Amino acid sequence: MNTATCPGLPAPIVPGQPLTALAPMQDVTTAGFMGLVADIGAPDFFFTEFIRVHSQTRPETLEAPALEARPGGRPVFAQLIGNDPALLARAATALLARGAAGIDLNLGCPAPKVFRKNVGGGLLRDLPRVDEILAALREAVPGVLSVKTRVGFESAAGFDDLLGLLAKRGVNLVSLHGRTVAQLYRGPVDHALIARAVGALPCPVLANGEITSAAGAARVLGETGAAGVMLGRHAIRNPWVFAQLRAVLADKPPPVVTLGDVRRYVDQLAGLTRRDGAPDRAHANRVKKFLNFTGQSVDPGGRFLNEMRRARTVAELLAVCDRHLLAEPDAPFALEPFPGVVARPNCEG
Ligand SMILES: Cc1cc2nc3c(=O)[nH]c(=O)nc-3n(C[C@H](O)[C@H](O)[C@H](O)COP(=O)(O)O)c2cc1C
Repeated sequence: MNTATCPGLPAPIVPGQPLTALAPMQDVTTAGFMGLVADIGAPDFFFTEFIRVHSQTRPETLEAPALEARPGGRPVFAQLIGNDPALLARAATALLARGAAGIDLNLGCPAPKVFRKNVGGGLLRDLPRVDEILAALREAVPGVLSVKTRVGFESAAGFDDLLGLLAKRGVNLVSLHGRTVAQLYRGPVDHALIARAVGALPCPVLANGEITSAAGAARVLGETGAAGVMLGRHAIRNPWVFAQLRAVLADKPPPVVTLGDVRRYVDQLAGLTRRDGAPDRAHANRVKKFLNFTGQSVDPGGRFLNEMRRARTVAELLAVCDRHLLAEPDAPFALEPFPGVVARPNCEG
């Protein structure tokens, strides 16, 4: 799918290249983090973390600072999670008025506390409700209506029906994590199902799930025919990945990132996660949430990850970073995670 055939969708930074997006991530994709990623090498567009819309929500008061910030001048989509068609439509109107580049509906979140309320991934068990929601959103959203989904709840048995609904309701962009909700983050990502969506939908599809590097993204684009890629955890690990992908797609060597560059990234993370008056321990934990991913590419034995997890204060954490990242600051930061060096699982989306 050529993006030129989709009016309203943001144009890629490099004309003619596939689209790139930073995946929405709760407590991660704040305006500050998007700005940091945009400075290092922006994706074509961003998504906010999910914005809950439920019976107590007053859509007119919803806030999403990233929408106004427009990090790096790139468009930001507002992601909604909920199951009330009228409320979601009102929220969409309110967020478009605050500068959202488009509205994205979350149909993929697998966290039990979320899907048990029949929102996020839980809605994949109730396609008639999905149809009603999409109808209401389509009416409320004159521009880009996007959906982020998985291939099914327990299995992909209803996948073709879901694709039929997305096409019928004129969805303009689909981000597809090629796993079921029940799989959480386990098991292989089904690229054949992503390719099926690409073939069945008239709109661009972004392939999502376990894309670890620029080379990996290029491979997935080739396997699926997707219009672009959406990266989450591996863009936290390596926020240079979007710039690296642009180089790889232009047949150029990806820019080399050094451990010294990573040390500067840590300082930026520490800056944007600081909260006035908040305990130092809580601040250290917020930084660790990001380093949980970055640490997968620092050393093949995982010593950095082990030591940083034991740090109790920000000063201890930064001392661990100095020891591991500044001993040889010109050494390259690995493009891929080291095998067997794993981030703690996270099942939020
Ligand atoms: C910490 C964290 C928070 C997430 N929050 C959201 C969210 O708010 N909305 C959403 O649609 N997906 C969310 N996700 C899922 C990601 O957007 C993405 O689909 C998933 O991580 C798979 O992509 P990846 O392998 O590139 O990380 C979250 C994932 C993580 C790791």
